[in-house]
Amino acid sequence: MKPTGTTSRAERATADLSRAIETLMVALEAHLPGCEAHSRRTADYAAVLACRMKMNPGDVEIVRRAGFFHDIGKIGIPDRLLRKPETLKPRETKIMRRHPEIGRDLLRGFSFPRAAADAVHAHHEWFDGAGYPRALKGKDIPPMARIIAVADVYDILRAGRNYQPAVSREEAEKTILAVSGTQFDPAIVEAFRTCAAEFNALFESAG
Ligand SMILES: [Fe+2]
Repeated sequence: MKPTGTTSRAERATADLSRAIETLMVALEAHLPGCEAHSRRTADYAAVLACRMKMNPGDVEIVRRAGFFHDIGKIGIPDRLLRKPETLKPRETKIMRRHPEIGRDLLRGFSFPRAAADAVHAHHEWFDGAGYPRALKGKDIPPMARIIAVADVYDILRAGRNYQPAVSREEAEKTILAVSGTQFDPAIVEAFRTCAAEFNALFESAG
């Protein structure tokens, strides 16, 4: 069926929206070099996990987009904290921990799918309730956020951070499996275990 004028306008509006938010990512990259590549890899791993969890194709794409924008809220965090090479002090950690809420508000402001904004808001929650910003527990954490949490940490482990050296594939997998049921949803860790080779291939091919 030929698309109606309304559909075309809607598609154009969606494309404009995506470009506008991607521009924000370019701005964030200037403040936090490496963030864009990390976000792209996180999006790809998250999509692999979402497929493995048998999400429908529409939801897989929402997970991918939320994975890409998971840290977009860091645009609202001062540079001196984003680039600090040492561990943050408690009051600095409190400021840094605002980024999931800032990200959710940004995506909602851009009329992003609510599920994506909710996933961004909850990507640092822990399965046992020890995460932030709301200390949500278990199935109260949106499933998309539980997926992005594993994808995000895997990439941080492999790529390293200012204050944390990169680790091998084996070490990263061991670390993820070790926090099943505490930091991560055991069902998602089990899915990760079955597609760890794909994660490694994505990391290696991204260079
Ligand atoms: Fe984050």
